[in-house]
Amino acid sequence: MTTATAITNIASLVTNDPSLGDGSSPSNIGLIQDAAVVIDGDRIVWVGESSKAPATDNAFDAGGRAVIPGFVDSHSHLVFAGDRTAEFNARMSGQSYSAGGIRTTVAATRAATDEQLSANVAKYLHEALRQGTTTLETKSGYGLTVEDEARALRIAATHTDEVTYLGAHIVSPDFADDPAAYVALVTGEMLDACAPHARWIDVFCEKGAFDGDQARAILTAGRAKGLLPRIHANQLSYGPGVQLAVELDAASADHCTHLTDADVEALAQGDTVATLLPGAEFSTRAEWPDARRLIDAGATVALSTDCNPGSSFTSSMPFCIALAVRDMGMTPDEAIWSATAGGAAALRRSDIGVVREGARADLTLLDAPSHVHLAYRPGVPLVSQVWRSGRPQL
Ligand code: NIG
Ligand code: FE
Repeated sequence: MTTATAITNIASLVTNDPSLGDGSSPSNIGLIQDAAVVIDGDRIVWVGESSKAPATDNAFDAGGRAVIPGFVDSHSHLVFAGDRTAEFNARMSGQSYSAGGIRTTVAATRAATDEQLSANVAKYLHEALRQGTTTLETKSGYGLTVEDEARALRIAATHTDEVTYLGAHIVSPDFADDPAAYVALVTGEMLDACAPHARWIDVFCEKGAFDGDQARAILTAGRAKGLLPRIHANQLSYGPGVQLAVELDAASADHCTHLTDADVEALAQGDTVATLLPGAEFSTRAEWPDARRLIDAGATVALSTDCNPGSSFTSSMPFCIALAVRDMGMTPDEAIWSATAGGAAALRRSDIGVVREGARADLTLLDAPSHVHLAYRPGVPLVSQVWRSGRPQL
């Protein structure tokens, strides 16, 4: 006997480790039917068929339901105040989305107290947890002054280890007449103040935000200060972002909605993950990114929420999975993989997004017999329990 806990009677377990699969699914999600998982402390210590599980002191009966790795949401913008209901209403009446709306949230965020911002992050993080998310990346980008960006990152870092400096979200309204001076600030004093609080640096490479040369300068400066690059690329139009991401070996190119054949080829050849954010296309009534094209070319695809008050105000990974399956050409197995192992790849993490011995014990129990129900039963709250670092959260 050990002090570990066995989760038994799992009808279907997604491990994302093909070597663990029992052959019941031809995809690479390592599916095991009638499975058990043993957790000890914050780690998974055994995975396999129920009949072979070692004896443990404690057991949790999954009741013939499905277990998947906790979702890894590798792209969100949670440090903000206010919302943009009016902008959403206008959009649903026919107006189009533009990066300009970000200014509304910048004003509200600057005016908020630290306590209000931190309470907001906690609220949306808990919302995400209830929907099965166990790791969540989040960004600054609604401060756009040295002090406001640094405080956003300090606050974010009290909630998650995956923190991204996005001083280059848009050119600050205070620098509207001198974008070059804003880039100098983002790569200079602001970077110095922000780098200690972040792991990643990001830039919104888009018409109306930053061009390819500015994005290269920003990501290169960040890298010199120890931050790893990721990028908002090719969301609203074709552009240089994806090629730049691959050139700089960024962990992820996010959005990837407008891609040339050369962009797809670059992603297929490089180590940069293509992170698709269907909540943004849903909420901006835009054309869907083509996940099928990317997967068929050999690119690694992640799915994330992009949770933010402007373009995608959802914290729900199950919602994104349902959209990706319905409208982006993904199979349910591919979508689950992208929302777990794909997100882990986009964060260059091997300890999460997978159910195998030694991995962090991050598991999501569904009130359903199979992971396929996440796409098959859209909008239904199917998450029944979540273990994060081995501890039940709900
Ligand atoms: O990822 N693309 C840039 N940033 C966000 C939108 C932010 C906003 O509209 O407030 C995004 O979609
Ligand atoms: Fe984003």
